[in-house]
Amino acid sequence: MKLMCGDCLELMQTISDNSIDATITSPPYDDLRTYEGKVQWGEEQWQNALRQLYRITKDGGVVVWIVNDASDNGSETGTSFKQALYAKEVGFNLHDTMIWNKQNGGFRNSKTRYIPSFDYMFVFSKGKPKTTNLLCDRRNKSCGDRTCGSFRKADGTTVRQVRKRVKEFGKRYNIWNVSPFFDKRERTSHPAQFPIALARDHILSWTNEGDIVLDPFMGSGTTAVACAETKRHFIGMELNENYVAIAKLRLKDARR
Ligand SMILES: C[S@@+](CC[C@H](N)C(=O)[O-])C[C@H]1O[C@@H](n2cnc3c(N)ncnc32)[C@H](O)[C@@H]1O
Repeated sequence: MKLMCGDCLELMQTISDNSIDATITSPPYDDLRTYEGKVQWGEEQWQNALRQLYRITKDGGVVVWIVNDASDNGSETGTSFKQALYAKEVGFNLHDTMIWNKQNGGFRNSKTRYIPSFDYMFVFSKGKPKTTNLLCDRRNKSCGDRTCGSFRKADGTTVRQVRKRVKEFGKRYNIWNVSPFFDKRERTSHPAQFPIALARDHILSWTNEGDIVLDPFMGSGTTAVACAETKRHFIGMELNENYVAIAKLRLKDARR
């Protein structure tokens, strides 16, 4: 586990090509948070980050990029989409556009819009993903039933077929319901922390034990904690030394 304090745009330059199995990260969302005034974030920075992530990701590795937009003059900025398209431009596949459904009202109150309740989770892959341990924890309503279907023969008649029994659990949908109002013990003073469950489920989906996971925008170290819990190696980078201190404490607790 390596937790570094500094600018990830500089620190990533020290990482070798094709060396990271997966990145699970949430960069700043436009200028929605100031992070104690330490952050400079715009197109130049996120383009640089995505280019470097492509270089250091192993073939078949993935980057999970959790983002959303600010509203500017009554319009969403569209930065999330621009980032996803730029990631494709630098070579990534847009493997999946997943949604983190926070299942609650966001804080951007508006009289003219529905209550915002989700963030994007873009899954970029360098070629075909090498690890896909897709989580199967969605209870099937028709569990135990036999699936039925029919197929048409060459002469036009149909044959009814009884297929396998429906399993108790099926593959998840790509919309994940995870509350951002997590356990008090999990909450830190970081202004934009995401839940451990979110990081953990991506780690389980896209990596195996012993793999190397990076979070270049580590914040309070949520991805680090999830790596400790799931036996993955972790590299974290964060500009703000106060957040690095929080991450170190959380990791120490998680290891205990
Ligand atoms: C959305 S928050 C990440 C929160 C994190 N996922 C968590 O659960 O705590 C983004 C973080 O990126 C950090 N950051 C912004 N620009 C950075 C840069 N160039 N290098 C390193 N960290 C940066 C900010 O200080 C902030 O803590």
